[in-house]
Amino acid sequence: MAQLPVVEHPDGRLREAAETVTEFDANLASFIDDMIETMRAQQVIGLSAQQVGDRRNVCVIDPEGDGSSVEVFVNPVILASWRTAIVEESCLSIPDLEGNVFRATRLRARAQDAAGNTFTRDLNDMAAVTLQHEVDHLAGKLFIDRLNPIRRLAIGLRTRAKRKQAGSERQEPA
Ligand code: NI
Repeated sequence: MAQLPVVEHPDGRLREAAETVTEFDANLASFIDDMIETMRAQQVIGLSAQQVGDRRNVCVIDPEGDGSSVEVFVNPVILASWRTAIVEESCLSIPDLEGNVFRATRLRARAQDAAGNTFTRDLNDMAAVTLQHEVDHLAGKLFIDRLNPIRRLAIGLRTRAKRKQAGSERQEPA
C-alpha cells in the first residue's frame, strides 16, 4: 500500500468526469487500497479517484472518520434521495475553505465492489452526504459549485489571486 499525492483546486483534473471502470483486476484492488490508505492518512471521510489524479470512477468513504466505516463504491449511481438539509462541507482538494450546501441526508445508491459485484445500499446522514460529495467529484463537480453566488464570487477572486501568485496563466475549464 502507498499514499497517493492529492490534487488541489484549481487543477483542471478535478473538472474531468470519471471513466467507467470495466477492469476489476489486481491493479484496481491495489489502487483502492492506496485510496483507503490516503483517506486515512489525510484524516478525511471520503476520497474520489480524481483527487489523486486518476480518471477511474471510484470513491471511498469512512463517515465515522476512524477507519471503522470504510466503504468502496466503483461506478456509483445515486438512485434516489430524500430529506434535504443544509450541511457545512469542506474538501481535501480545496484547503482552508468551508461552506454550506444543500444535501440529501438519506439516499439509495447502486455501485460495484472491487470485484465487480453490483450492490444497492441505503445511506443516511454523514454517509449519505459524503457519498454525494464524492459522486460530485466523479462528475467533475466541487462543493463550491453548490454555494450561493456571492460566496462563489469571493472564492473565484481568491483562486485568481492564488494563480497569479503561482505565476500561472492557465485557464480553468468552467
Ligand atoms: Ni472533496
